[in-house]
Amino acid sequence: MNEINCMISALRLKLTKLFEGEKSGHSIDHLERTLNYALCLQKKEGGDVKVIAVAAYVHDIHRIIGWHENRFCPPEQSLNMVSELIDDLPLTPKQKEHVLYAVCHHEEYAFSGEGVTVTDVESKIVQDADNLDAIGAIAIIRSFKYGMAHSMKEYDPDIQFYFSDYNENTNDKSTIHHLYNKSLRLGSYLNTKTARDIAVEKTKLTKDFIELYVKEFNCEF
Ligand SMILES: [Fe+2]
Ligand SMILES: [Fe+2]
Repeated sequence: MNEINCMISALRLKLTKLFEGEKSGHSIDHLERTLNYALCLQKKEGGDVKVIAVAAYVHDIHRIIGWHENRFCPPEQSLNMVSELIDDLPLTPKQKEHVLYAVCHHEEYAFSGEGVTVTDVESKIVQDADNLDAIGAIAIIRSFKYGMAHSMKEYDPDIQFYFSDYNENTNDKSTIHHLYNKSLRLGSYLNTKTARDIAVEKTKLTKDFIELYVKEFNCEF
């Protein structure tokens, strides 16, 4: 088994336990998919594969803290826990620092109106990998899980669709509005061309889903 697989296996044991029972769309399955997207992007875009793999796999520790404390916990407040998790992995101090940097900035969207714009390929890939799992078929299911976990309305026909400054700290007006406000435009804001290409089919599905949902809701047949 190569070094990457060894690190992932070691982390998998810890993460599976930590994320057990998570029901808001940020389960261990989301971490596995983010890792797979990240490895796929790295093959085309380059970057330090160890930093990318580890950061992608542990990026959502902040969700676990938030879940247990019943609040939104921003990624920067998860760095101590992430640091402990990766402490015994075969990474240099510089690589560990880089993992923490990528985790810290993974939720800064180009349309959030705040935060830093990451410039290193490793952080760009971790952002893109996470965001690719927020567009498309599985993203639709994840959004409804998140909505249910946070008592969000499924849809509110009295509220116009909107694009607003987005951050993960504030919930959208409904799950359908969330899909419109985030998933629908995320594909155009991805950092790498490889991710933008993957997002095309996913975005089309999201658009078609929203349109058909509203049509069915209003019985416009
Ligand atoms: Fe996150
Ligand atoms: Fe995530």
